Amino acid sequence: GAPKPRLTFLGCGYLGSTYAACFAELGYEVLGVDIDEAKIAKLSAGENPIHEPGLDELLKHNLESGRLKFTTSYAQAAEFGDVHFICVDTPQRADGEAADLSYVESVVTTLAPHLTRRTLIVGKSTVPVGTANWVEELACKHAPDGVDVQIAWSPEFLREGFACEDVLRPNRVVFGVKSDWARQMLYAAHKALFELAATEDREVPVVVTDYATAELVKVAANAFLATKISFINAMAEVCEAAGADVTLLAKSIGYDSRIGNKFLRAGIGFGGGCLPKDIRAFQARAQEIGAGEALRFLHEVDLVNQRRRNRVLALAADLLDRPLGPAGPDLAGVRIAVLGAAFKPNTDDVRNSPGLAVAKALAKANADIVIYDPEATKNARRELPDVEYVTSLTEAVTGADLTCVVTAWDEFRRADPHAIGELASARRIIDGMNCLDHASWIAAGWDYRGMGRPIL
Ligand code: UDX
Repeated sequence: GAPKPRLTFLGCGYLGSTYAACFAELGYEVLGVDIDEAKIAKLSAGENPIHEPGLDELLKHNLESGRLKFTTSYAQAAEFGDVHFICVDTPQRADGEAADLSYVESVVTTLAPHLTRRTLIVGKSTVPVGTANWVEELACKHAPDGVDVQIAWSPEFLREGFACEDVLRPNRVVFGVKSDWARQMLYAAHKALFELAATEDREVPVVVTDYATAELVKVAANAFLATKISFINAMAEVCEAAGADVTLLAKSIGYDSRIGNKFLRAGIGFGGGCLPKDIRAFQARAQEIGAGEALRFLHEVDLVNQRRRNRVLALAADLLDRPLGPAGPDLAGVRIAVLGAAFKPNTDDVRNSPGLAVAKALAKANADIVIYDPEATKNARRELPDVEYVTSLTEAVTGADLTCVVTAWDEFRRADPHAIGELASARRIIDGMNCLDHASWIAAGWDYRGMGRPIL
């Protein structure tokens, strides 16, 4: 078989730094590449700019082993790598809903002129269908004459908070290729991943396909997940109107294995760096290629998702006996403890965080809010600077007239409703994530409101 290819990861953000550390751990020689000198200096010193369980250890271990290095030099990257993975961001464009491909473009056009031998460039970033063909043209145009540069597309499916686990133990990999050589190189670049699976008695299914299918797999998967969440949140709206309980409804339908019990937690909606922007970019791209009608439902998925945040304000008005005008309630003079800010637990990421959006809305309604999040304070403060942040749950709830859980951190689920009740001014709680054991809160004298649940 082919010798172990040397790998570069172009872009050392969330995706690239995780992949670089994990593939070094698998035994590959790895170079992480980024134009941000400060970031590269930090990573080279073993300092990881993101909060991700297990990543610090992998980074340190592989810097020490010598298998993992970082650089800002694309010349060095071209010299080093047999397979280059594009791991840059594809954010939502400032002028619309489409994905911004300028980082992908700059990575490819910067790397290609330095190439001197047959090379594979693999796209990992989430992109509109058709991008791989464009990258192929770009790479060929910018590579020196006579250098064979080939493309593949292999989307990633990692979840924040489980990123290392998802990279090392993926539930599938997808190889979008045009040539046998590209397919073989991709297998070689993943061989250690398959071997790890074999030692653990697992198998990693591989789907080999064309570029377009590989590109679409990623956005289709995210669109499905977003739809599942909005489906249960739509059921929550119906439950609220009917006096039914969406958590028991979700549990009951989830026993049907065709439906499954995952991603059926009603709450304040989905957020994060992927699902919200991906469903919008997917719609924009479908429109461009004449399939807009097929994805019209994703617009509704988005609307349901946005609506759920307002529900917290309505519940707050109700619990605090404030009228709910068309512009929302006036919560002046009310102290509200907001528990959470990250878009989900086990991350410090606040991008498109529904919880932080709720905090903003409460602040805008003139409430006096105090936020506690175990990890995300620094990032939250940047988005919402003019409110109070504290460093413990007990500080947050002390003197609160209302407590709102907006991120399902374990620390909040485990909190003792009696002890917290002693500190709060009033025992009123909104469980925006339906993550608390409501019976024990009610037993401790709390006026509890969940999402899509009757008043108990
Ligand atoms: C997601 C996909 O899961 C991952 O495969 C893809 O690669 C990137 O996007 P991530 O953004 O890390 O990953 O978060 P995920 O765990 O999927 O949660 C997304 C959002 O949905 C969170 O805000 C979460 O709170 C919310 N959610 C999830 C619900 O509201 N209800 C659920 O039942 C599940």
